[in-house]
Amino acid sequence: MTDQPTDDNILDLLQQDDLDIPEPVIATKPVETTPPIEAQIWAYLGVAGGVGVTSLAVQTAWELSKRDARVLLVDLNFERGDLAAYLDMPPSLKICELNKAEGRMDANLAATFIKPFGKPGQTSKSPQNQLSVFSAKGELGGNDKVSPPALLAFLDCMSGGFDFIVMDVPLMWRSWTQAVIGAADKFALVTEARVPALHQARNLAEDITALMKLNPTPEIILNKYERRSLRGGLSLIDAHKVLACETSAQICVDEETLRAAINTGTPAGVYKPNSRYTKSVHKHVQNWLGAFPVYSGQNIKQKVQSPEQRAQAIKPRKRRAARR
Ligand SMILES: Nc1ncnc2c1ncn2[C@@H]1O[C@H](COP(=O)(O)OP(=O)(O)O)[C@@H](O)[C@H]1O
Ligand SMILES: [Mg+2]
Repeated sequence: MTDQPTDDNILDLLQQDDLDIPEPVIATKPVETTPPIEAQIWAYLGVAGGVGVTSLAVQTAWELSKRDARVLLVDLNFERGDLAAYLDMPPSLKICELNKAEGRMDANLAATFIKPFGKPGQTSKSPQNQLSVFSAKGELGGNDKVSPPALLAFLDCMSGGFDFIVMDVPLMWRSWTQAVIGAADKFALVTEARVPALHQARNLAEDITALMKLNPTPEIILNKYERRSLRGGLSLIDAHKVLACETSAQICVDEETLRAAINTGTPAGVYKPNSRYTKSVHKHVQNWLGAFPVYSGQNIKQKVQSPEQRAQAIKPRKRRAARR
């Protein structure tokens, strides 16, 4: 005789009232995983040499780091980049070192390519400690020598360790330029208030928009702008006419502050916190932060305290560029 119950036996069993049927297990809500935190990427590209991109990137990064954000300042000019020199620092890497990391980049390796800004002995509370720099030793043809996969993998790795990445993008277009611009949350062309530069800005904005199918078109920042301009200077209305669009920010001309800041290897905001230049960059930063309401306070970390809050504040975005 077999121990296996017959069909009848099973029916009998099901009809028994006192049968100890286990409670159905209620499906628990799937655990919400915290999305990985990604840095806000801000990119500036000058429409001509000398329009003030490096100065603007340095001061923007300083403004952000003052708010207790962890900021990485990235010089993407591998041929003539001078960002490290603006901060009186040696370059943070050689191109060959970055290229060797192709295919094996991880956060630890990426961290060896950056250097903290600041002098030894500064307290961990000082904004200097919140600011790091990536700036390669320039080489002839450096922008063609750099490995695009290594560069993009580096930026990807760094994105997890910083609140902001501020990029100084060189004018000459390379195979990787589109990818880095595409990865940016905020992107602006920087021009100055001279008619030829404004024409360049307009053409470049149109070309980039068409190539990358951007909507909206890139923002344009007008640097070295003199509001009360005399003797042949351009008014804002004139500048907008040439550009055929409005500029999203105007940064005032302030040669004295910039000259001294560069020659002392400090951001303008350190050299002269109340200068006209510092105030105009502050206004621009406030404006861009306004796009991320949680960041618009004076101190980013006071606003966003727990890792969960930070993760919510910095929602993962669909980067415009495919990262390979
Ligand atoms: N808002 C400004 N007012 C006056 N001079 C400026 C301003 N911005 C930049 N400069 C000056 O213009 C020159 C080029 O600046 P830089 O930031 O190196 O430009 P880029 O990186 O576009 O070549 C520097 O001498 C700098 O001091
Ligand atoms: Mg520059």
